[in-house]
Amino acid sequence: MNEPIQFMDLKRQYLTIKDEISAALLAVCEKTAFSSGPFVEEFENNFADYCNTSHCSAVNSGTSALHLALIVAGIKPGDEVIVPANTFIATAWAVSYVNAIPVFVDCTSDTWNIDSQKIEEKITKKTKAIIGVHLYGQPFDVDAVKSVADAHGLILIEDCAQAHGALYKNRKVGGLGALGCFSFYPGKNLGAYGEGGAIVSNNRDYDQRIKSLRNHGSTIRYHHEELGFNMRMDGFQGAVLNVKLKYLDLWNKRRRDIAQMYQNGIQNDKILMQAQPSWISSVYHLFVVTVDDRDRVMQYLQERKILCGLHYPISCHLQRAYSHGGYKKGDLPNAEYLAEHCITLPMYPELTEDEVSYIINSLKGIN
Ligand SMILES: Cc1ncc(COP(=O)(O)O)c(C=O)c1O
Repeated sequence: MNEPIQFMDLKRQYLTIKDEISAALLAVCEKTAFSSGPFVEEFENNFADYCNTSHCSAVNSGTSALHLALIVAGIKPGDEVIVPANTFIATAWAVSYVNAIPVFVDCTSDTWNIDSQKIEEKITKKTKAIIGVHLYGQPFDVDAVKSVADAHGLILIEDCAQAHGALYKNRKVGGLGALGCFSFYPGKNLGAYGEGGAIVSNNRDYDQRIKSLRNHGSTIRYHHEELGFNMRMDGFQGAVLNVKLKYLDLWNKRRRDIAQMYQNGIQNDKILMQAQPSWISSVYHLFVVTVDDRDRVMQYLQERKILCGLHYPISCHLQRAYSHGGYKKGDLPNAEYLAEHCITLPMYPELTEDEVSYIINSLKGIN
């Protein structure tokens, strides 16, 4: 390889849809529909359809989506919310933003999704909700987590930030719990050209309140029903997402094909991959593997001009921001093992066959 293989390459995808994107951005300017407006509403309708939910509210980030979901779910200061330890920190931030307490639960040692069997022991009288994360694009075991939630009267929220279009028992993620939260950060499977997020649900009351909360707690101009936020999606993001949503299934299919090439091609018992139960269909937002000696492998891949990522090098419960939670090393061993041994391989629909083969052949050589 002459050029390094980038970990992520947004330019390649942009070039394939450049004309459509230009037209969409121009249309926003022509209509001066810069904040919320028709393009955002069109996207909300399209995305609700895509997720098979009756409602969708677009917001300005995935973090805001989780924050508003927790407010409408009625999470109050001092409540506890179960969160997986191995996720992007924003899952936990949202809990802290409503002055509730994130209670971290370990993942399983093989699927790296939340371990449903370890939730119950963390439930107290203060526990009000569980946020499950469809990590790396692979759905967590929704039925198993839901049955714990139902048994204890807890609300289930899905963090779908990495899993647009993923299937759990042939059903799209997002509408499987009370509320589904998405991020459209540019590198996501469905990425905006800026920041964006959305909350989907089948609950009209939730949706109406979210639409008010994101708009300063207001549905009638200058009438403010409760403390609100400016979390509106801007018009450009709505227009871009409308263009890109049409390609999402195609792009996800290509990700699945690349994942299959990795799974079949990397025959090396020193490299472990995310175990996949038969009832899920991942959309491979990230292709994470674990290796014994990560520093050495990273160095080797860098020499081979393969640029990799780490998702995530520090588990949430050991982040300094949560040091007041009293967690210590060894508390959640599977999440900690993952944090210390994970490497994320390049994964995006525009990777070429040659690049994928080169990555596979390079990984075969690791001992
Ligand atoms: C699992 C998870 N939750 C939440 C978020 C937050 O989304 P955003 O960056 O759009 O605020 C992200 C994305 O970065 C994520 O990966």
